[in-house]
Amino acid sequence: MIVLGIETSCDETAAAVVRREPDGRGTILSNVVLSQIAEHAAFGGVVPEIAARAHVAALDGIVAAAMAEADVGFGDLDAVAGTAGPGLIGGLIVGLSTAKAIAFAAGKPLVAVNHLEGHALTARLTDGLAFPYLLLLVSGGHSQILLVAGVGDYRRLGTTIDDALGEAFDKTAKLLSLAYPGGPAVERAAASGDPARFALPRPMLGRPGCDFSFSGLKTALRVEAEAAAPLSEADVADLCAGFQAAVTDVVRDRVGRAMAGFAAEFPGVDAPALVLAGGVAANRAIRTGLAEEAQKRGFRLVAPPGNLCTDNGAMIAWAGIERLSQGLADGLDAPARPRWPL
Ligand code: KG4
Ligand code: ZN
Repeated sequence: MIVLGIETSCDETAAAVVRREPDGRGTILSNVVLSQIAEHAAFGGVVPEIAARAHVAALDGIVAAAMAEADVGFGDLDAVAGTAGPGLIGGLIVGLSTAKAIAFAAGKPLVAVNHLEGHALTARLTDGLAFPYLLLLVSGGHSQILLVAGVGDYRRLGTTIDDALGEAFDKTAKLLSLAYPGGPAVERAAASGDPARFALPRPMLGRPGCDFSFSGLKTALRVEAEAAAPLSEADVADLCAGFQAAVTDVVRDRVGRAMAGFAAEFPGVDAPALVLAGGVAANRAIRTGLAEEAQKRGFRLVAPPGNLCTDNGAMIAWAGIERLSQGLADGLDAPARPRWPL
């Protein structure tokens, strides 16, 4: 089974071709991603209108490149998968319409994929994971802890009640006049900082459930930054280190609770997996904290390669394969859905 996947929900224009092997594993035949970071950098965040226009300009070429690299023609495909949501409506319409056009012209089924399902199933493509497992998805748009029990069978254990974690990193960077995207810049600055100098809150720590909240932390950081202004390089490093330590504690606590709940519900699953996805999963402090917590609780940490943790077409193609294998496909009237919880 060979599927073309198209992803345009945010600021990456991406297309990929993935083949499912007879043993159920996936082979990525091509995975082409064009990041729009440069186009949005001056604005300190993704500008929806700029993103949609950039997708229009780039997508044909990205699809052609993915098909050429995979050395397949549209006639060789078993289906075309496109992200239908959640995400920025302009970009979603560009990608989904393109997927529909190719599916219609080639006479192939369309699979309208939920972007979060793409992230949720990636570990089965890369590591052949069996259900059930836990997923922590932390990106610029999402902060979720999911129980992945089967294709189409997801339970959201926790989500953010305000900002996404990547958004919190980006806003912190902006406040401290660091580069965009903020996550890598904050991590770099934190490396030489003292995490204990500023007493920052750990929102939700120890609370029931697995939800996140980051806006109070953002406000506390702003108050500290304003009190310490004008900020030296050392002040910025200390604030970044304090912020990173606070979010690491919070993520560890929330995911720890999810692992405890999972272990109680599925006592028969031996060495269950905690899968990481999303751009923030690249953060080494957070990863180290989670690795410790996982080890403590008998979980193994599964971190797909970085380029498959962030937005890409291969995860959409793979979700298409998984859905198609269950006999699931969509009509050409499938709508783009900017809000679409799993
Ligand atoms: O998954 P992603 O590439 O795109 C979407 O948001 O869909 O995630 C991007 C987010 C940005 O907010 C970025 O600041 C954050 O991930 N990020 C990081 C790191 N690298 C990227 N956050 C913390 N530490 C990092 N090393
Ligand atoms: Zn994503």
